[in-house]
Amino acid sequence: MTTTWTAAALSQDVPAGTAAPGRLGDRDLAIWRSASGKIAAWADRCPHRGMRLSHGFVRGEALSCIYHGWRYGQTGQCIKIPAHPGLEPPDAIRVPAFAVAEASGVIWVADGAPATAPPAFEGFTGFRSLQVDAPASVVAEALGGKGDAIRAALGPTPAVALIQPLGPDRSGLHLLAPLSAAPEALDALSVAAEDLRRRAEAGQKGRAA
Ligand code: FES
Repeated sequence: MTTTWTAAALSQDVPAGTAAPGRLGDRDLAIWRSASGKIAAWADRCPHRGMRLSHGFVRGEALSCIYHGWRYGQTGQCIKIPAHPGLEPPDAIRVPAFAVAEASGVIWVADGAPATAPPAFEGFTGFRSLQVDAPASVVAEALGGKGDAIRAALGPTPAVALIQPLGPDRSGLHLLAPLSAAPEALDALSVAAEDLRRRAEAGQKGRAA
């Protein structure tokens, strides 16, 4: 169980009324945002027949499975089974939900109840996420730092890099940029991020050879 927060996605990548896949450790997540903007992170598996809920569709404050349309409310409780419109779904039909919070334009998830709020990075907000075919330690090394939250200058632009382990050979890299950054600075950051990815993946290939 991870009772610490993990950066799972950027807020901008899960707009209102959408669902997206995510990861927490070795578990697949369905991260979705209701029409009013509430964020949720659930196990990515419908209790009915196991369809991925990240493929589902949001209507108002509920998420529906794309297969047979079972509908789930914010807490993960099943609230409607279209094939049995007169049935009140039993309490036991519920999708496991994870702790979720947003700070600095990042969606943070945790298993359990972390004792503190997720970190906030004053003056920065979510800019871009990339997947890197290299472990978290190699990505950190390419950034010239240690740990899973590194302040780095990528090209000429200061950034915060949040590294999410996605397996032995894969990582998520969530980049935060200064709120005040000009469009040219963001373009430069994007180019530097791609370069960083290439270097990390080349370094990983070199280790494996
Ligand atoms: S698998 Fe989800 S409603 Fe049937």
